[in-house]
Amino acid sequence: MYKTHTCGELRASHAGQTVTLAGWVHRRRDHGGVIFLDLRDRYGVTQVVFNPSLPREVLERLSEVRFEWVLQISGVVQLRPEGMQNPKMATGEIEVVASQMTVLNPAKPLPFMVNADEEPDESLRLKYRYLDLRRERMKRNLILRHEVVLFMRKYLSEHGFIEVETPILFKTTPEGARDYLVPSRLYPGQFYALPQSPQQLKQLLMVAGVDRYFQIARCFRDEDQRGDRQPEFTQLDLEMSFVHRDDVLDMVEGLFTALIPAVAPHKRLLASPWPRLTHAEALDRYGSDKPDLRFGLELHDVSALFAASEFAVFRGALEAGGVIKCLVAPGCAAYTRRQLDELTDYAKETGAKGLVSLALTAEGPKGSGAKFIGAAEIARLQEQTGAQTGDLILFVADEKKTANKALGALRVRLGNELRLADPSVLAFAWVVDFPMFEWNEEEQKWDAAHHPFTMPRLEHLDRFETDPGSILSDAYDMVCNGYEMASGSIRIHRRDIQSKVFALLGISEEEAQRKFGHMLEAFEYGAPPHGGMAPGIDRLVMLLADEPNIREVIAFPKNSAARDVMADAPSPADERQLKELHLKIVE
Ligand code: AMO
Ligand code: AMP
Repeated sequence: MYKTHTCGELRASHAGQTVTLAGWVHRRRDHGGVIFLDLRDRYGVTQVVFNPSLPREVLERLSEVRFEWVLQISGVVQLRPEGMQNPKMATGEIEVVASQMTVLNPAKPLPFMVNADEEPDESLRLKYRYLDLRRERMKRNLILRHEVVLFMRKYLSEHGFIEVETPILFKTTPEGARDYLVPSRLYPGQFYALPQSPQQLKQLLMVAGVDRYFQIARCFRDEDQRGDRQPEFTQLDLEMSFVHRDDVLDMVEGLFTALIPAVAPHKRLLASPWPRLTHAEALDRYGSDKPDLRFGLELHDVSALFAASEFAVFRGALEAGGVIKCLVAPGCAAYTRRQLDELTDYAKETGAKGLVSLALTAEGPKGSGAKFIGAAEIARLQEQTGAQTGDLILFVADEKKTANKALGALRVRLGNELRLADPSVLAFAWVVDFPMFEWNEEEQKWDAAHHPFTMPRLEHLDRFETDPGSILSDAYDMVCNGYEMASGSIRIHRRDIQSKVFALLGISEEEAQRKFGHMLEAFEYGAPPHGGMAPGIDRLVMLLADEPNIREVIAFPKNSAARDVMADAPSPADERQLKELHLKIVE
């Protein structure tokens, strides 16, 4: 070993011992002949003192030492002089008085400071990720992630789950994104697909009798990037046999309820057991299928109240079969014209035609709706919504879907602006009873709302021909603080139902055979009823670490344009490789 102790280990009780430390130069201060170096490793920082009485060659070498050089230092631990202790440092009671120093490796001048509080530019951070990961915050995120995964493995093992690895080189497993393809050298013109999730494989493991499976699974999806998305990411993928929906939800809720206090004691779970909302209820009340439940600010349907309204905006929407919905921004009656215009623009960006405002000021109603909304209507509005003097009511009149979307987005924005969401709270909830299918307007076809292996409600099977949009499924989402944290479902284990679903999705018998023949066949050899889910680990760690972006909790992420700027990938392949793979690049 290059060291006897770590840089985070020494305390007053070590005083008098001769020790050897190895690490990076974190800081350096010259105090008239006496030189202080802070030496850092993963475990902490220790102050090292170099006295001017040291041999000249040591002092000369020391004068060359710069930030992030790797040193080995031997010396005696001593208590810091009275008044010089640093209670903020774990090792702040002591310092090491150096007698020897070896330069293990120098470092070039750095592209950014590792020891500074200010955030370096992200493109630099990603290019020099190995330096970025030396920073305290990034180190903390790596460790937290490790603890989360370790806890999951332990908890699930104790509950009878076994971890099984599934292939990365596989066949298309659609989760709604584009596949990454890997050309085969041995089979010209043929490709593996990287799995968008281990969905099919975990179902096949249920057919295999594994009963309870989990995996810390890498998933690959070629989709547009967002703050909470990466082209490759990690799921806690799990599946159980002979279970109903609530068995799966209870298992995962139990895991998370035990996990959070163990790995993030500073976080508070809002409610236990977690609330359960139906998909329809989530949309009606919060305008989102992943509501942030840390605050209220619920949407109200006030269509009935305005049934006889002469206000053209309201009447027009109702006559077209739409709704009038509103939310009450508490204490915002004094919003300026400019603030209201900004909110209106925001509502328009999310699809609304506009935004009607009604400010309940002490001097009476104000805002764009004041002229059109009478005193009796205001009284009834207050009764229905609980709005008080001083509040601002914001209305969208439109198709239900559009009104929910716009007000749902406004709700999130106002929740942030008004600081209604306690950052230390985790408001987990389940959203259940998802529709089975969604109409794809662009392609004029039905899509699976979750994935095509999800079980539709058996009592809705006769609606396949008549009203597919009304079929509910046994799918569920875990949501937290406005994020979708996990999705899952009870699966189809009957071949006849699977065929019905494929048919409605426009997947022909021939295509189903080609893509999923192995699944369909497996279902004919005694598939048990089964279901499962997959929480996204990156998103979870992001929330626990209070990070705004998923990249902060992934050691080597892609940038927002899906590039690895450190290794410079993707990059061209050379001619020989292309030839071996039977590929030609067409510009
Ligand atoms: P789904 O596609 O909903 O379900 O994914 C489950 C969870 O994985 C996380 N997630 C992502 N995280 C980061 N970047 C991405 N691009 C990304 N995409 C998804 C989210 C999401 O809730 N096989 C099913 C699960 C099942 O039915 O058991 C599946 O993959 O947290
Ligand atoms: P207009 O009649 O388009 O000039 O709009 C009058 C006011 O009503 C403006 O404040 C618009 O932002 C608002 N508005 C228009 N259409 C809608 C709608 N569908 N829902 C809510 N507000 C709207």
